[in-house]
Amino acid sequence: MRKAYEIGFGNSEQELVIDQLPLSGTLPEWVQGTLLRNGPGMFNTGEQNLRHWFDGLAMLHKFTFRGGKVSYANKFLECNAYEEAKEEGKIAYSEFATDPCYTLFDRVKEVFNPGFTDSAKVNIAKLHGQFVALGEPSLQVEFDPETLESVGVFAYDTKVKRHVTTVHPHLEDDTIFNLTTRFGRVSNYRFMKLEREQPPQLVSKQRVKEPAYIHSFGMSPNYLILTEYPFVVNPLSILFHAKPFIENYKWKPERGTRIFIFNRHNGKLVKQTVTDPFFAFHHLNAFEQNGELIFDLVTYPDPEIIDAFYLDRIKADDKKLPGGEIRRFRLNPNGKGGVTSEILCDEGVELPRFDYDSLNMDGSYRYVYSIGVNREKKNSFYDQIVKSDLKTGKAKIWKEENCFPGEPVFLPNPDAKREDDGVNLSIVLDEANGSSFLLVLNSSDFSEIARATIPQPVLFGYHGNFYKTI
Ligand SMILES: [Fe+2]
Repeated sequence: MRKAYEIGFGNSEQELVIDQLPLSGTLPEWVQGTLLRNGPGMFNTGEQNLRHWFDGLAMLHKFTFRGGKVSYANKFLECNAYEEAKEEGKIAYSEFATDPCYTLFDRVKEVFNPGFTDSAKVNIAKLHGQFVALGEPSLQVEFDPETLESVGVFAYDTKVKRHVTTVHPHLEDDTIFNLTTRFGRVSNYRFMKLEREQPPQLVSKQRVKEPAYIHSFGMSPNYLILTEYPFVVNPLSILFHAKPFIENYKWKPERGTRIFIFNRHNGKLVKQTVTDPFFAFHHLNAFEQNGELIFDLVTYPDPEIIDAFYLDRIKADDKKLPGGEIRRFRLNPNGKGGVTSEILCDEGVELPRFDYDSLNMDGSYRYVYSIGVNREKKNSFYDQIVKSDLKTGKAKIWKEENCFPGEPVFLPNPDAKREDDGVNLSIVLDEANGSSFLLVLNSSDFSEIARATIPQPVLFGYHGNFYKTI
């Protein structure tokens, strides 16, 4: 039997188009639409292997639910990085934690024109009607949701050449907000706003000497929240590309975590405060209550989680994967005082989802769905799905022997009376069968409703979204 980690961090076997996947169980009638997912499809090229979970070359997956049946297709995101890997059998662009093998000549050339990957592998968004694969530090690539073929490059901040954009834009009605980090002689964080058929607008700008690695940001009805972990980089080392992207960042806990709060209507910095050092990838919800700004994150004491995703370490299986904690922060955006925080649920989680469409910026939200690590076992990767109840601190768990689930996208029942009336959709790698299945869970009691079996394994992915129409 091939180990799950060998399969899930290997290469995808084929690009498939399947009209109907074998299905066990019965899908609820209201589950109609398309789940689009992004993630790696290739870790091994002929000459060189990628080293980190965030390095794999992008592959799109599409599950369409119609009339109680599920169809499936998968396709590599067409981009230069993938073409070079396929045609030449080599890594030609810098990924998150892997650089190409440079000759001395290449290295000199690279100093003047660092070639970041165009393999946008991390997330998917529908931005003003266009479907876009989102990458970091790469470009954003528009694709056709019917055929999964690439259409072209999508950019937030066309004036800035050397920048990083988060893969977690916030949406409010038809307006898109995102955070970019510009690296240069003067570096800065830039909150950008995109309205339909308008050029990108700068909302706020914050000058910074050593920018932090920031994967997401918070947005409440009135504020934008920039949480700057003390995992920072000298911008020159990004510009001169001394090492793979993430290896230029250094943990400087003595700086603490700085929190910047901007009024998102007029762009002004209304508060800047500092708290204990911590690291996070994901902001959850943010909202305002009784004059307080409250925001939740999945936090870690330090950025060891990034090291824990090097494939050598995962495959060695001798170290546990750190689990993130759902932590709630509170501050007064217009008054004095710093920030306080408390852990809401201590189950170790990552890739958190909630009912964003209905409850974004709404403090009544209660449930978060994530992947997690079974503490009773010594696993170096995620092996369970967790439903965290932020009100009671308790958790429900789904797990199955030798199974490794991905991000559990939440889909609410359109007639729901309760927040957790819906389903979670997660692609699960089944080690024993050497394949994957799409699991449909009842979000309320976490019982299995259905599973659709894919005739080959799907590599361990990152994010995706469900769309009623594409
Ligand atoms: Fe993410």
